[in-house]
Amino acid sequence: MVEYDLLVKNGTVVTAADTFHADVAIRDGRIIALLDDADVGLADSVIDATDRLVLPGGIEGHCHIDEPSFGGAKLADDFESGSRAAVCGGTTTIIPFAQQIEGMSLRQAVDDYHTKAAGKSVADYGFHLILSDPNEQVLGQELPALIADGYTSFKVYMTYDGLRLEDMQILDVLATAKAHQGFVMIHCENDHCIRWLAEQLERKDDIGPERFGVAHGPAAEREATHRAITLSEVVDTPVFIVHVSSHQAMEQIAWARSRGMPIHAETCPQYLFLSTDDFSQPGWEGAKYICSPPPRDPDNPDHLWRGIQNGIFQLISSDHCPYRMEGPGGRIESAGELHFHKISPGLPGIETRLPLMFSEGVVKGRIDLQTFVAITATNAAKLYGLHPRKGTIAVGADADLALWDAERTVTLEHAMLHDNGDYTPYEGREITGWPVLSMVRGTVVWNDGEFTAPTGHGEFLHRGISSAVSTAAA
Ligand code: URP
Ligand code: ZN
Ligand code: ZN
Repeated sequence: MVEYDLLVKNGTVVTAADTFHADVAIRDGRIIALLDDADVGLADSVIDATDRLVLPGGIEGHCHIDEPSFGGAKLADDFESGSRAAVCGGTTTIIPFAQQIEGMSLRQAVDDYHTKAAGKSVADYGFHLILSDPNEQVLGQELPALIADGYTSFKVYMTYDGLRLEDMQILDVLATAKAHQGFVMIHCENDHCIRWLAEQLERKDDIGPERFGVAHGPAAEREATHRAITLSEVVDTPVFIVHVSSHQAMEQIAWARSRGMPIHAETCPQYLFLSTDDFSQPGWEGAKYICSPPPRDPDNPDHLWRGIQNGIFQLISSDHCPYRMEGPGGRIESAGELHFHKISPGLPGIETRLPLMFSEGVVKGRIDLQTFVAITATNAAKLYGLHPRKGTIAVGADADLALWDAERTVTLEHAMLHDNGDYTPYEGREITGWPVLSMVRGTVVWNDGEFTAPTGHGEFLHRGISSAVSTAAA
């Protein structure tokens, strides 16, 4: 008699709470039992996970896929290439953004992204919204209806032409979020400081890529982060600070959290593994590292690691925003000249997020396995309304698993990755630990070099209320 569609046998299961030996029994895409020594005769098929860590598939809570350009260059990934890169890197759920263009209805934006993703994504997916035009119709009707439909988080920007909102508008967005249990993500950089500093540099014709880090300096991020905390306090509703790059901004978040304020935050691999040294490389090489906010001084990562260890950051997200440097629509062509503010900002990283964090975090002893799972999967599931269906290994959860060879050593090269960009900022880095198999709802989608599921295997996820919002209300 067959009781399980699939048995993952002899692995070491890791969750955000524990590490233990168990066989994972799967039926109809869900985990139905965690067993000591399951009978293989009861399973339709068996995966031997001896010497493997069995982790919840990663959840990528911040990525840009098939979005309109940030500054001219075309984003390289559609939902097929972006999701393939994700599953190859041990991530099984992605939450990219559905960006509202000024003047467009939010519902229209969401419909457009469904068209882009359907039949293409291999990973399961939800959408955060990007609010660029929070008019009365949007805040009064569309947003509340979309929250109720499972689009429970949305990002607002304090900078970028066409996206930035005034503080009054952000307050209105926060008030709507509070009334309807939405969760607001904020891009914190002081737009006036950036523009003023950029102008000073341009006047001196001091426009090399490394000047991006001066125009987008830590003071602009720190001030905007504190302002976002203040706006959250004024409305009395939680916020999530995205892609925190500097210890100065982190200290504002630590300050707020130490006062019990509901401020949540992420940082990203580029702020842990890159620095101003990278974009100071000559010519277009330096341009490869431009993202907003930018990597900081070489001593900054040590501070951020402490923020991870102390729980100031709940998530590590990639902020995957891939471009090609070369060719039509590439960064070089679209910029036209080597000018820090004409180069589209954003870095690829959806596939390298987990391997880098595993190698530099777990293998180097900065974090334990439980913290690794928490900051790459479980906390995202909680904060973005997917827990306990996603982000854990438990009876009843979706069988979204990543099997890791903790000892495999790999030298990162773009040629081995699966996004549609033309470089990785981490070329040549030595990594220890690699995700060798990924499974989405009990279907193996990537098996050590081979795609084993059809394009379009991924399903759309209606998400529930963020744990940040429900705990703040309690
Ligand atoms: O430079 C970045 N981060 N590009 C992506 C857009 C954003 O603000 O997250
Ligand atoms: Zn942003
Ligand atoms: Zn982003």
